[in-house]
Amino acid sequence: MNKINSVFICLIILIGYSIQAQNSSKNDHKIEKEIDSILKLMTLEEKIGQMTMYNGSWDLTGPPGTVSAKDKFEKLKNGKIGAMLNVTSAEATREAQKAVMEHTRLKIPLVFGYDVIHGYKTIFPIPLGESASWDLELMEKSASIAAKEASAAGIHWTFAPMIDVSRDARWGRVMEGAGEDPYYNSVVGVARIKGFQGDDLSASHTIAACAKHFAGYGFAEAGKDYNSVDIGVYELHNSILPPFKAAADANVATFMNAFNEIDGIPATAHKYLQRDVLKDGWNWEGLMVSDWGSIGEMIAHGYARDKTHAGELAIKGGSDMDMESSAYEIGLKNLVEENKVSMDLVDDAVKRVLRLKMKLGLFKDPYKYSNLDREESEIYTAAHQEIAREAGRKSIVLLKNDTILNNNSSLLPLKPNQKIAIIGDLADDKDTPLGNWRAKAERKSAVSLLEGIKNAIAPENITFAQGPAFVIDELEEGKRQFLWPLKFNESDTSGTADALKIASHADVVIVVMGENAYQTGEGRSQVDIQINKLQKDFLKKVRKANPNTVLVLMNGRPLDLSWESENISTILETWHLGSQAGNAIADVLFGKYNPSGKLPISFPRSVGQEPLFYNQKNTGRPYSQNTVTFSGYTDSEKTALYPFGFGLSYTSFKYDKLKLSDTTMTKNGKILASIEVTNIGDKDGEEVVQLYIRDLIGSLTRPVKELKGFKKLMIKKGETKTVSFEITKDQLEFYTVDKIWDVEPGNFQLGIGGDSQIKLGAKFQVN
Ligand code: NOJ
Repeated sequence: MNKINSVFICLIILIGYSIQAQNSSKNDHKIEKEIDSILKLMTLEEKIGQMTMYNGSWDLTGPPGTVSAKDKFEKLKNGKIGAMLNVTSAEATREAQKAVMEHTRLKIPLVFGYDVIHGYKTIFPIPLGESASWDLELMEKSASIAAKEASAAGIHWTFAPMIDVSRDARWGRVMEGAGEDPYYNSVVGVARIKGFQGDDLSASHTIAACAKHFAGYGFAEAGKDYNSVDIGVYELHNSILPPFKAAADANVATFMNAFNEIDGIPATAHKYLQRDVLKDGWNWEGLMVSDWGSIGEMIAHGYARDKTHAGELAIKGGSDMDMESSAYEIGLKNLVEENKVSMDLVDDAVKRVLRLKMKLGLFKDPYKYSNLDREESEIYTAAHQEIAREAGRKSIVLLKNDTILNNNSSLLPLKPNQKIAIIGDLADDKDTPLGNWRAKAERKSAVSLLEGIKNAIAPENITFAQGPAFVIDELEEGKRQFLWPLKFNESDTSGTADALKIASHADVVIVVMGENAYQTGEGRSQVDIQINKLQKDFLKKVRKANPNTVLVLMNGRPLDLSWESENISTILETWHLGSQAGNAIADVLFGKYNPSGKLPISFPRSVGQEPLFYNQKNTGRPYSQNTVTFSGYTDSEKTALYPFGFGLSYTSFKYDKLKLSDTTMTKNGKILASIEVTNIGDKDGEEVVQLYIRDLIGSLTRPVKELKGFKKLMIKKGETKTVSFEITKDQLEFYTVDKIWDVEPGNFQLGIGGDSQIKLGAKFQVN
């Protein structure tokens, strides 16, 4: 080792050791000084290296690139890579880190990112499903467990949470977020960020979070993934940006931009969004990573001539790190040397990378997360499984539980000693409940519903037959299913007769169907959102064989359940519920847990209604006057079949005596809204009490109602609880015609209830 190198190493180690509590501004100041001193030592090539991220080969979450594993290893040793994604395990991360620490001049540690979306190896419900729990503490907890497991395997950074407001069930990625509402996405996003990052990013069990996709990705036209987005600036600020502002305020360490364009400008090069709004407007100092190849894709967008041009547009637009495009590596040096890109822009990006690494404590110990002992002992523990089960049962939504006429009660909860037939392709499926984006889950490691039921009741009361399979699983064991399309069985109905036979002999039939794990997720948009034909035909036969049929759905997007809701008395939405799915569903089926989940996204009557969301505008023609000339459809109701916020319980709740502490308030004042909620059934239960507000007249038209608060609480049978909400400027302001967030004086209406279809009752005025 030459003298200069050892001086650098000492300097960097010294810098590292001096960093401790990094949250105070004093220390932030210290970090900034240390970052500046490292920056001064760096060559332009080394800076570009820090701005470059490559994929490892332990997982593949985007189109395969052209750089070989061997070449990447060389690049690591030459300081050409500052971050890697999809390198997993303590051993693999240690090996890659070693290449950097032992061979590069400045020994700036690598940061390892991975899509830890709903668990690392212990898998929690898919985010859309978990959002149905309306339990922020629980979501924070599951994210913290995901962080603990991922960090034990060398991961520093998750590409989560996805906080794209998603209103279109055709879009496969609705499974990855918190649904259709901006406020709800904000609070869920913040809970998840807190869970991943904890209070101290440098602690060995926390990881950096990433607010994605900035911005507008969830508004892809026609629900087609990667498609263009065309929204106005007011819609952008009022509907799409609030969760990102909340994430920035919660100190999320990183953002990821998006594949889509907005009104002609690719998000990856969107200067207004990334620089004017986020970095300058919100003073956010974190790292903006591109999405996979999204810099290079600006060529296909018709926005960049070649990779060098794409790199120029991306850095000017605010992308700090290039994931998998090699655009910065190819062109940035020349761009700077030719004065097309200023060194200041490069320095700002590199500082953001170094800041992340500092905050993670990597300069102090680059290997601290790559810990074989922790990897052995802290992943997939019994305690984590318990939380996965709790998260699972709290995420289930009871959509329908009608009284069965011939015995005057509903089917759920199931009674002890009933003879149960469990059928359907997903009944015994140990893979589908893991959902898409399952990180390091072992294939087929979930508890299937059949197993869950076997764990819950005596074996002599259970019969099982699969019925017809709806997906042809041709992929060999272990092959990454992420990128390949599924093949569906169109015609083979074998298995039907056996299943119908056991169905007709049972007291109750539980039929389990819906979507395969890989039917939703990235690149999994669909134009048909019904249960596929083969399953539906089978369901019709089952229903005929035994009307005491409970439909248990496993799916990642809202489905069109029009036929099912007309014809099946009992429907339970269980999403893709994770490692403990079967046990969690059995807890609900047998009444060990009283369901409390509520939909975070509207379920339509028909795909033709999509995008469908409760907080629409009123239009100039909202009402029917017995003519066709109003805003609706001639062949369908315009409302959701199951609305946002909806979900039943084994008990019921009555809302009464809505009160306001005052009917007028000033802009900066407050009033209190309260209501009495009584459990009028015969079981204890939890209710999600929701507050909706409407601003009646605005400088811009306002939605017919907007969720502005909620409380989830346990109410014992017969008990009444008074639930109150404080109404302040936070609930009333919006991005006005003057392009500022403000409360406009005027009349408002408010309602508190159990779902988004409640009528708004109380009126108040802001002066
Ligand atoms: C593409 C996805 O859009 C993004 O969400 C993900 O984090 C990256 N690939 C990395 O896997």
